Order: sequence, then C-alpha cells, then structure tokens
Amino acid sequence: MDAVNIKDLVFSYDEQHDTIKGISFVIPKGSYTTIIGHNGSGKSTIAKLMIGLLEAKSGTIEILGQKLDESTVYSIRDHVGIVFQNPDNQFIGSTVADDIAFGLENHCVPQEKMQAIIEESAAKVNMINYLDSEPTKLSGGQKQRVAIAGILAIEPEIIIFDESTSMLDPQGKKSINEQIKKLHEKKNVTIISITHDMEEVAQSEHVIVLKDGKVAMSGKPMEIFDKEEALHEMKLDIPFALKFSKELKKEGIFDKNECTLEGVVEALCQLKQMN
Ligand SMILES: Nc1ncnc2c1ncn2[C@@H]1O[C@H](COP(=O)(O)OP(=O)(O)O)[C@@H](O)[C@H]1O
Ligand SMILES: [Mg+2]
Repeated sequence: MDAVNIKDLVFSYDEQHDTIKGISFVIPKGSYTTIIGHNGSGKSTIAKLMIGLLEAKSGTIEILGQKLDESTVYSIRDHVGIVFQNPDNQFIGSTVADDIAFGLENHCVPQEKMQAIIEESAAKVNMINYLDSEPTKLSGGQKQRVAIAGILAIEPEIIIFDESTSMLDPQGKKSINEQIKKLHEKKNVTIISITHDMEEVAQSEHVIVLKDGKVAMSGKPMEIFDKEEALHEMKLDIPFALKFSKELKKEGIFDKNECTLEGVVEALCQLKQMN
C-alpha cells in the first residue's frame, strides 16, 4: 500500500493562477522521502493539501489507501502528523509538557503512560529542561524542537516535516536528523521531509524536486545530485561532501561519488592504505 498517492493535483489560492499545476507522485509506505524546491515552488502548499487543510481544485490525494475528502479527512489525520514550517501558531498548551500531552490526549494515550512519553520525546530533542516553560517564550529553534517532540511522542504512521529544522544550529539539525532516521528505520514510520538541507536529502531514499508548482524530477538522491546543473538553475545545491569528492575526482585522486563526509573519509583512508 502507498502512504501517499497523488494524481493530477491542481490547486489555486485565488482561482486565477494555479499554485499547484498538475502534480502526480507516489510515496511508498515506510519510505523516507525528501521534497526539495526553490522558495515558492509549492512545497508547503502540497503539505497542507496532503492533510486536507487546503482543498484541491482537481485531482486526487490518497493517504494509506483512503481517498482524502470531507468524510475521511479526520480519520486520515489520525495517521498523519505534520510539523509546520512556521514554529509559531502551532502550540496549544500553556507549557511544553501540556502541549505534548495535548497531542497524546487527542490520540487517546492513557493518562498513566503520558508522563514517560512526554519526558522521552522531550529528551530526544534536548528540551527536557523546558517542560514547564511557556512555548511562546522559546526561541525559534527551541519552538521547532518542541513541535518535533510533539510529533515524536505520537509516532503517527506518516510524518510530514516542513522545513522543521530550519532554525536549528548545525549540531541540533544533525541530532534531529538522526532521531528521524531512527524512527524511520526502527518503527517503519513513513517520513516526508521538506528540506533545504542537502545532507538530509542524501540520507533519504527518494527525492521529489518541485519547480514552479510542478514535479521537475524525482528519483534516488544520487540520481538527483547527478543533475547538478538543473539543480543549480532551480537555485538548489548538492551536498558539500559530493562537491568535494567530485573535485577530488577531477584531480584524479578519487574515482567515486560520495555524498556523505563519512563516505569521503572512508574512501580516502582506503586509498591511503593502498599506497
Ligand atoms: N495563503 C496564501 N495565499 C495566497 N498565496 C499563497 C499563500 N500561501 C502561499 N502562497 C503562494 O503560493 C506559492 C507557493 O507557496 P509555498 O507552497 O509556501 O512554497 P514553498 O513552501 O515551496 O516555499 C507562492 O507563490 C506563495 O506566494
Ligand atoms: Mg514552505
């Protein structure tokens, strides 16, 4: 079964100009997909369409085999969690702990299990010391961490992250990416991550590239990174490690394309041993 199956989706904010211009794609259940694209390409709009916050002009969206419409939208939302791009306006609780608890209550988690889950998920995003803090008074990055904790606590079958680590420092980003990867690998959660972080794209299994409301290309990360020029035209970049390994290749030092720093280091170590 597919986690998401979108066919010929068209959406317009103003009836005159289409923001989503006939998009089709499939996201298999249990996969880790990243969605990339220039600012204004329609990524957040697609995310909102997928959870029924916006209504399509035409085309269909199926989530876990169920067609999204007025009668299914609430049952579908039980299975799909989203962390919005803007960390403001997504808090309901007056404290961090309350806010995470609210999501758990909505998913009928028994009261006696809540405290442990709240603490565990806050610890995963390094916010355990802020459980009594007021979410609105946190920094942007801290708000993003809390929003992520709220979703990690619920563990829905599908999670959509909309640039949800954009305000984190590099280490924070790395550690959250690791949590996401773990959730995907251990619990088979379908991850859909809208991101500008090419290191994260490299760790995903499938990439969808949006350009001006359409799918410009899709494929495995390496297939996408191969089209460096096309990406460049869309104001997108390739991971630093891949750039580095390509430069080494030009110098004749290297004959592989590696897109993680670990991969480059390992290959260089092997090379050193051979000489
Ligand atoms: N609420 C809205 N009303 C009208 N236009 C909008 C609204 N939200 C987004 N848009 C427009 O839709 C386009 C796609 O936006 P968005 O999906 O947010 O892009 P992305 O997330 O890829 O940066 C942009 O041109 C943006 O200006
Ligand atoms: Mg966006």
